[in-house]
Amino acid sequence: MKQLTGNELRKLFLDFFASKDHLIQPSSSLIPENDPTLLLIGAGMAPFKPFFTGKMKPPHPRITTSQKCVRTGDIENVGRTARHHTFFEMLGNFSFGDYFKKEAIAWAWEFLTEYLELPKDKLWITIYTNDDEAFDIWHNDIKVPADRIIRMEENFWEIGPGPCGPCSEIHIDLGEERGCGKPDCAVGCNCDRYLEIWNLVFTQFDRDEAGNYTPLAKKNIDTGAGLERIASVLQNKPSNFETDLLYPIIDYAAKVAGVTYGQSVKNDVSLKVIADHGRSMTIMIGDGVLPSNEGRGYVLRRILRRAVRHGRLMGIEKPFLTDIVDIAATIFAQAYPDITDKKDYIKKVIQLEEERFHTTLVQGIELLNKHVQELTHAGQTVLDGSMAFKLYDTFGFPWELTEEILSEHNMTLDKQGFDQAMAEQRERARAARQDSEESVALPDLSGLVTETLSCNPEAESAKVVLILKDGKVVKDAFDGDEVAVILDVTPFHAEGGGQVGDTGIIASALGKIEVNNTRKLPDGTIYHIGHISEGALKTGEVVQLSVDITRRRHIARNHTATHLLQAALKQVLGGHVNQAGSAVDNSRLRFDFTHFAPVTTEQLAEVEQIVNEVILGNTTLAILETTQAVAKEMGAMALFGEKYGERVRVVIVDGFSKELCGGTHVGSTAEIGLFKIVSEAGIGAGMRRIEAVTGYGAHEYLKLQNELIKEAASALKTRPEEIVTRIDTLNGRVRELEKEVGTLTTKLAKNEVQDLLVAANTINGVQVVVGQVVAADMENLRATGDMVRDRLQSGVVVLGAISGDKVNFVAMATADCVAQGIHAGKIIKETATVAGGGGGGRPDMAQAGGKQPEKLSEALKMAQQIIKSQIK
Ligand code: ALA
Repeated sequence: MKQLTGNELRKLFLDFFASKDHLIQPSSSLIPENDPTLLLIGAGMAPFKPFFTGKMKPPHPRITTSQKCVRTGDIENVGRTARHHTFFEMLGNFSFGDYFKKEAIAWAWEFLTEYLELPKDKLWITIYTNDDEAFDIWHNDIKVPADRIIRMEENFWEIGPGPCGPCSEIHIDLGEERGCGKPDCAVGCNCDRYLEIWNLVFTQFDRDEAGNYTPLAKKNIDTGAGLERIASVLQNKPSNFETDLLYPIIDYAAKVAGVTYGQSVKNDVSLKVIADHGRSMTIMIGDGVLPSNEGRGYVLRRILRRAVRHGRLMGIEKPFLTDIVDIAATIFAQAYPDITDKKDYIKKVIQLEEERFHTTLVQGIELLNKHVQELTHAGQTVLDGSMAFKLYDTFGFPWELTEEILSEHNMTLDKQGFDQAMAEQRERARAARQDSEESVALPDLSGLVTETLSCNPEAESAKVVLILKDGKVVKDAFDGDEVAVILDVTPFHAEGGGQVGDTGIIASALGKIEVNNTRKLPDGTIYHIGHISEGALKTGEVVQLSVDITRRRHIARNHTATHLLQAALKQVLGGHVNQAGSAVDNSRLRFDFTHFAPVTTEQLAEVEQIVNEVILGNTTLAILETTQAVAKEMGAMALFGEKYGERVRVVIVDGFSKELCGGTHVGSTAEIGLFKIVSEAGIGAGMRRIEAVTGYGAHEYLKLQNELIKEAASALKTRPEEIVTRIDTLNGRVRELEKEVGTLTTKLAKNEVQDLLVAANTINGVQVVVGQVVAADMENLRATGDMVRDRLQSGVVVLGAISGDKVNFVAMATADCVAQGIHAGKIIKETATVAGGGGGGRPDMAQAGGKQPEKLSEALKMAQQIIKSQIK
């Protein structure tokens, strides 16, 4: 067996595959590019997914790499087995539609047995259950005895959606003394005897999010061989942790802790965790990950805090992680020299996070221990979710850490309760974010030297002069904090004159702030309101600035268009038009103005036309800084009641508009693209409001209108250009039908009247008609009642009809009956009461409604009785 250092092994592997016509490529960053399905790169093939699926052409059909990988699925096993890591390097050779099983297997064998001189009789092979092709190659070509080739169901490799396929692994038997001793210990056992050192994936499928496997057009090879594992074999070490790729960190941590490696299982686990996590955090930060409570940043935070805790388990009470960066940089010097260049930066990030965690760790652990004791006393084993949340929120314990500590006491965490507390917290934070603008609006800034602050649209970097959190000045702030930041120079445009403030990113070396508004204090000092999404921000540090330029351009289009609108309104409606308010943002403009009559459709069309003509005329804007007096002389429009300083800024669209304005504008009018009014309405006495869109917004608006027309056309079963004709035809048809319905209803009513008359009964000589009819509303019911009464000439009529979910009644009595004591109003009152209603009226005519149509016939029975009682 060859004796090789980690670096030698990596180089030998890459050179070997280069000799087989592979292109050596450097490791990709741990942060996946254009792959939202992955948080971090966890396999050598991950950066090459588009090459496997054929979406992109590789620079060469054969590539070989040593790829930085992070996997956290097995984080609890790190330090407890010989081979688990969060960070590791995966050696790989890849074929994109080029060679396949035969070559891949032969080269793997050649490298392992001839270059590394591993003993052939100690190597075991696994293959996918039905992969006879792989079996034949291993057995017939490579001459591996059949009893050392094992078929396994789980030999199918995939990592989330993407390229995947059956695989074949090579394991090395490290000897009985490394095994668990169980009688069924064999290849695939969880113990450390059989070590998987090589995985050959025959990438033939593309798996989608839904779990469908589509065969790939070309067959590929994806190989993964763990650098640390093979190094442990070649260096004859009991685990990966004793190799030159990790041991120097163990050595350091043991010294700091004052313990000796190899003397206590518990300490050894902690030392290994620190070694693994130390390398992980170094590489992750080197690749641009910053601690945060989300995504990759959370993975980093969890790893780092876990390392701190394991330090404490061995009695390390002071921060100790930054020195690991030096050791890791040395280990990685050959493969990743950038780590050496970024050492200071990486250390700074670690130092901040470690210090932050340390300040609360002791209290947190104490609290958790208290909970554990209480649970033990109470004979319980589940920690309340809200308590775990408190540990997370107040003491920075990733919930997984709480869970891990609990599991050491055979306890678990109420994760559902934790999630709920977390969701409630998010909701509170969201609400607080809305209030945060208020809380930072008027901070106490005594002591701030404002003379040194400036604005410069070109500025790309600045110094942080002041950070405000919850309205108070702080030295530093961390991810999750809502802050207001004052910079010595800023390209961000502040809210003002109806225009919204700029948004963008402030990136510090150690963190990222998402600026969601920019505002100005009464003295002109500009402050940026934002949310720290990653890492930390410190007063005095230099930050990189990037304004959301696309959004700014949308705003500029809307702002210049507002000036054009005002000028066009004056032209069309008259000089009395004056701005009464304006709101300009990235999606639309709103302009309020004085005008004393509705704006006609024609006037509106003319205004729109004029503005679009100026846009297409492509006039270059001129912006002039001058004195108020000069501006006035030039005839520049100013706002009523607005106070301007001595120096003013005039925005000029030559020959069309001149306005005092401090806002952002386009360079020339054609940049506006298109101006479209979307609404015009009165908003008070003598006050109107126009809303309009420009540029992309106008395009979007027209697209939507177009969609609407298309949908309408399809609903009307016609072509868009024939919608109006079709609607006219339909309206004509509706009128015809209404007429027909009218005729039919009258006919029906007549028939009903006839039936009712036939059914009339006579009580003591008085003709009585009581019945249910069809009548859409009260008016129709009354008409039917009139008809019956007129036909009766003398008598009493009570009719009921269902109308939707209600019921209507009418009662009528001819004059002679009224003279006899009949009272329609009283009849109707009692009748309607039965059907859940009420009403009344005159003795000769009354109407009422009820809410219970199902009681209609019962009510009519009551009517009969009342009539009877009224007839003497
Ligand atoms: N992609 C395969 C693995 O990660 C080689 O094991």
